[in-house]
Amino acid sequence: MKVFAIGALLLSAVALTAPPKGDAERGRVAFQKCYACHDMAPDNDVAGPSLHAILGRPIAARPGYDYSPALRRLAKREGRWSEALLDRFVADPETVAPGTAMTFTGMRDPQERADLMAWLRQSAPRLDSTRPDE
Ligand code: HEC
Repeated sequence: MKVFAIGALLLSAVALTAPPKGDAERGRVAFQKCYACHDMAPDNDVAGPSLHAILGRPIAARPGYDYSPALRRLAKREGRWSEALLDRFVADPETVAPGTAMTFTGMRDPQERADLMAWLRQSAPRLDSTRPDE
């Protein structure tokens, strides 16, 4: 019984510390939540700025897109979209950039966000080659 309890404790510790592994196929589905306002095509700003090659991209830097002061402040503070920052922003935009114009309540599920990141990592270079069927 005691051994069992320790085993369960260890398991839950692992679950707490290991970041969830992302699945790009599920991430493609998760991105549907962003798609209402964002396109992945290089220059296509719609309600939100294009998310083309967003990982590592400078924050609030799409020329011609009218970013909120909140996002410009975030750009001064953080510079670029690291995966960790994007993860926090997507989880709760209002906390990371108070006053942001991105009226998205947040993707709270860490697994869903990990899937989204996996898809973003994979899809950005693919879109770079501008395949006509994308
Ligand atoms: C309801 C519309 C809407 C939805 C849904 C939405 N966004 Fe946004 N997003 C925006 C707007 C508007 C901005 C510009 C924010 C600002 O200027 O404060 C933005 C900005 C961003 C930026 C900053 C881009 C840059 O150029 O620095 C990222 C990254 C982003 N969104 C990611 C996402 C992701 C990922 C999702 C899905 C999980 C998502 N957004 C869902 C409207 C939306």
